Amino acid sequence: MLEKIKQTVDYINNNFKFEPEVGIILGSGLGGLVKEIDIKHVFNYEDIPNFPVSTVEGHSGKLIFGYVNKKRVVAMQGRFHYYEGYTMKEVTFPVRVMKFLGIKTLILSNASGGVNPNFEIGDIMLINDHINLLPSNPLLGQNIKELGPRFLDMHDAYDKDLLKKAKEIAKKHKIKVQEGIYAAVSGPCFETPAEYRYIRNVGADTVGMSTVPEVQVARHMGIPCFAVSIITDLGVDGKIVEISHDEVVEVANNAEPKMTLIIKELIGKL
Ligand code: HPA
Repeated sequence: MLEKIKQTVDYINNNFKFEPEVGIILGSGLGGLVKEIDIKHVFNYEDIPNFPVSTVEGHSGKLIFGYVNKKRVVAMQGRFHYYEGYTMKEVTFPVRVMKFLGIKTLILSNASGGVNPNFEIGDIMLINDHINLLPSNPLLGQNIKELGPRFLDMHDAYDKDLLKKAKEIAKKHKIKVQEGIYAAVSGPCFETPAEYRYIRNVGADTVGMSTVPEVQVARHMGIPCFAVSIITDLGVDGKIVEISHDEVVEVANNAEPKMTLIIKELIGKL
């Protein structure tokens, strides 16, 4: 793995030397932040050695380098999900690469289903903790001690200082934000009503199919994380209606500008 990371980092640095300070991973329908980047260079995933090959035809992801609020950022437009059939190590490989490119902070976004009965569709939730209900973990197998510890402490998976700053920014702009716990499941099925109830009962506020593996790997390497979720549907008894991926993307698109504003200002404060 170390050799692969080095190969990929060398390829990127040989084509565009930038040393980003902040890594950003954008969720489905949440690519609007890209418009806020003063773009200096773009790589298509398919051109990057060792990057997983996209499963969606004609839908290559992009690794974007540029400035947000005068900070050097690298943004993944399009992430790799476990439900696409990648291994956890493939899903999280780009996070390893971003660390070796120089990032000091990782910011993630996603779309999720709200299971907290106080949530509404279109709400923004700042993630303050997670519950991993995925059937695997990217840190399984032999630990590479150059990357991080065998047994990873997760008491501060989501950085408290970043969370505090984001709440202050939201308050300043009168943006309503929720705060809570994100449960990660494999998908690709959305949940049955019984599963949504189960997820609520184990202590989560939302459920989605991403983010947790990337946070586990970022924390393994000591990178502080900030993650934000847009509630695109509700898994709350009495409020459950049929959903599709298109609806998830549409709701995410609508709520996205407020989330983008928070992230952009937060980057400025790093
Ligand atoms: N469940 C799982 N993942 C999701 C959902 C959901 O309801 N909404 C958006 N991503």
